[in-house]
Amino acid sequence: MSLPKPHGGVLVSAYEPNYDATAIEKTILLDAVAYSDLELIGIGLFSPLTGFLGKADYEAVVESMRLSNGIVWSVPVTLPVSEEIAIGLESGEQARLQYGGETVGVITVTDVYEPNLSKEAREVYKTEEEAHPGVKRLYERGDYYVGGDIILIKKSDKGVAEDVWFEPKETRALFEEKGWKTVVGFQTRNPVHRAHEYIQKAALETVDGLFLNPLVGETKADDIPADVRLRSYRVLLDHYYPRERVQLGVYPAAMRYAGPREAIFHAIARKNFGCTHFIVGRDHAGVGDYYGTYDAQYIFSEFTEEELGIQPLFFEHSFYCQKCEGMASDKTCPHQKEDRVILSGTKVRELLRNGELPPSTFSRKEVVEVLIEGLKEIEQV
Ligand code: ADX
Repeated sequence: MSLPKPHGGVLVSAYEPNYDATAIEKTILLDAVAYSDLELIGIGLFSPLTGFLGKADYEAVVESMRLSNGIVWSVPVTLPVSEEIAIGLESGEQARLQYGGETVGVITVTDVYEPNLSKEAREVYKTEEEAHPGVKRLYERGDYYVGGDIILIKKSDKGVAEDVWFEPKETRALFEEKGWKTVVGFQTRNPVHRAHEYIQKAALETVDGLFLNPLVGETKADDIPADVRLRSYRVLLDHYYPRERVQLGVYPAAMRYAGPREAIFHAIARKNFGCTHFIVGRDHAGVGDYYGTYDAQYIFSEFTEEELGIQPLFFEHSFYCQKCEGMASDKTCPHQKEDRVILSGTKVRELLRNGELPPSTFSRKEVVEVLIEGLKEIEQV
């Protein structure tokens, strides 16, 4: 086996730091999600996208999880604007993309269109309820979309993730350098708990390397902040993982909470990073009760191995079982519910905020200490 080709065949590269945008009159202000999308298109993590989706691609993605050329793509990557901005833009012209008062990119407009947001919500998120954080954001961001190829002029400030912020071309080189022929990617928006560690290490038994790839883009307010999580990953890796078989690197995309559709999107981005395998466990990228526990696994059967180009590794809901005296899952453990240590994310956050330790059968002591400390610092700010 060798590292997979990027999705669509070629790693997109649209970074031009010296691009002169001064003569461009029109300006579009980006929110944090759009800036992240711009950067990830520009560095090729969202290959084969070369820009924000135009109308035909957008509709094809919403309806059939494919771009209009047939390539699998499950989550729309769009540039929303207000009606006022939309009216002033014409196909063929360029607009400056601004974030935090700076020009960070340019778009060459091909389409300005009015999306059917409730249809997008229904198809992509499987609900129109605003209680769903992805749907809420969708409704808030703007009623018109601007499609067109982009140029990335300014990359983001990497902050505390500086040493673990890799572009796809860099992770590919790293994996090659390590001699890894097979690499499993792991997505998470949480600290790594024992169940995560269990499925990562189970996967690592059969592949050469683990790419621990936590999402650090925009998340909902009650998820644990990325900088605190980063500290927790570092301490966990130091104590419990073989250094030469694991690489930490951030996934700087916004969380969509789109469950099954996002699992496909996540897998494709990890393929672009160079992973051959991708872990999909229980309720991947889910939120509340919007998706069935294993829907994000079933969706992979809608595509062929060739068109995805990355192999999903599915895991059952896992937990520590007091009777087994070890990590297990429904597949491997014959015992009762009462014997199993299962805590919801909400419960864990509540314990941590009160400075209480979740049991070591749920989370490593070193991880919990970092989280409690981190959350205290945030509350003092
Ligand atoms: S996610 O939104 O990033 O998917 P989370 O960080 O909870 O959320 O999950 C990361 C990955 O681990 C996902 O593939 C998820 O399905 C899997 N996972 C999380 N908890 C468990 C568990 N207890 N058992 C099996 N898989 C799990």
